[in-house]
Amino acid sequence: MKILVLGGGGREHALVWKLNHSPLVEKIWCAPGNGGITSEAQCVAIEAGDLGAIVALAENTQPDLTIVGPELPLVNGLTDAFRQRNWAIVGPSKQAAQLEGSKVFSKEFLKRHGLPTAKMYGTYDAPTAVYRALSSVAWPVVIKADGLCAGKGVFLAQDFASAKDFVERVMEKNELGPGGRRILLEETLEGEELSFIILTDGKRYAPLVPTRDHKRVFDLNQGPNTGGMGAYSTDELLPEDLRQTIRSTIVEPTFDGLAADGILYQGFLYLGLMLTNSGPKVLEFNCRLGDPEAQAILARLDFDLADILNDVAKGRLDPAKLRWKPGASACVVLASGGYPGKFENGRRIDGLTAAEKISGVKILHAGTKLAGDGVVTNGGRVLGVTAAGTSLKAALASAYEAVSRIHFEGMHYRKDIGAHNTRLKAAGD
Ligand code: AMP
Ligand code: GLY
Repeated sequence: MKILVLGGGGREHALVWKLNHSPLVEKIWCAPGNGGITSEAQCVAIEAGDLGAIVALAENTQPDLTIVGPELPLVNGLTDAFRQRNWAIVGPSKQAAQLEGSKVFSKEFLKRHGLPTAKMYGTYDAPTAVYRALSSVAWPVVIKADGLCAGKGVFLAQDFASAKDFVERVMEKNELGPGGRRILLEETLEGEELSFIILTDGKRYAPLVPTRDHKRVFDLNQGPNTGGMGAYSTDELLPEDLRQTIRSTIVEPTFDGLAADGILYQGFLYLGLMLTNSGPKVLEFNCRLGDPEAQAILARLDFDLADILNDVAKGRLDPAKLRWKPGASACVVLASGGYPGKFENGRRIDGLTAAEKISGVKILHAGTKLAGDGVVTNGGRVLGVTAAGTSLKAALASAYEAVSRIHFEGMHYRKDIGAHNTRLKAAGD
């Protein structure tokens, strides 16, 4: 098979890494790719969100299968353009991707189908309407921009002043672009988060191994939200009773709801859950694999990824074919100085070869590019140092040992990936 992978982050590097293990794969292109993907696939300098250019690329290269990493091409309708031409692609349609592309759409979906989620106060098209509504909410309150905002569209406001400041920036100064034209207010849920990602061909589905992301930039969940500073996966995140509850109260009603609404969903469906005292509730849908969740998930993969994704595109997924390594995995993100705020690119990265010598470790590149005979930083999240191990403790030890061998100016990372899980801490792990 010849495969085209769209995207250029750590998630796409992880996909390319595992696709290359398949004996079915003869060639991989990646658009745009990054400094690490370059040595594992042919990178093409086209942005994944540039619909016309991607269609033209596929016309020229004729891949047997295309796999979409990020949300933008999905929300823009790339898969519809491919399917109209009978080209095999993994990813939901433009309509189905609204589950991520519009928070209002997804909230209405959740309500319509009786799924457990945070109570919504309302949706608002004007800042004055939000300010009025804020007089009768419980604090803290969650404020969400309706559209795609590159991970910056959700704010947990402790008081009116900070809420007003966020709404002003989003609705009056348009700092997040058109995604911020409409705002939604909802109740704050408390608990631990769980990323529950499913692969589906529209008829059958298979859950991937459970993961937890660490969204805040600093240890102990301090500081602003980021795209994700690290993730880990262990089956202990999902005891059997919780698995059953998620299946019966969330996953089954989601698939029934999609069918009732006439939405064919094919690809990865990410359920962002909050495990509250009154059971798991849906925080968000994403229409793709998470990043850095994908890095942790794929490190545990024990099946032929190309074969399975081809089955998904052809509508013949056999969930029994998805097998996973026991044990655990972890991904520690190394970020540029200043991220998630302003940062500079072009810093030389040292120690990559030494880090990758550690058994079970794979360095997945995100914001990197080649420069001369070295690699330099080229984004906020630079590397995802990923390790698999027989236990979470072992995976974390390998990942952090590898981290200690890598250096670039301004590099920062969280030292507590995998450690804030109280359930595991209570179990003495
Ligand atoms: P989203 O963009 O919807 O994925 O939200 C990003 C992050 O905001 C989530 O992963 C949570 O950490 C947080 N969040 C979203 N909605 C809520 C809520 N209702 N209560 C508490 N935290 C939330
Ligand atoms: N890591 C969260 C996300 O991919 O949306």
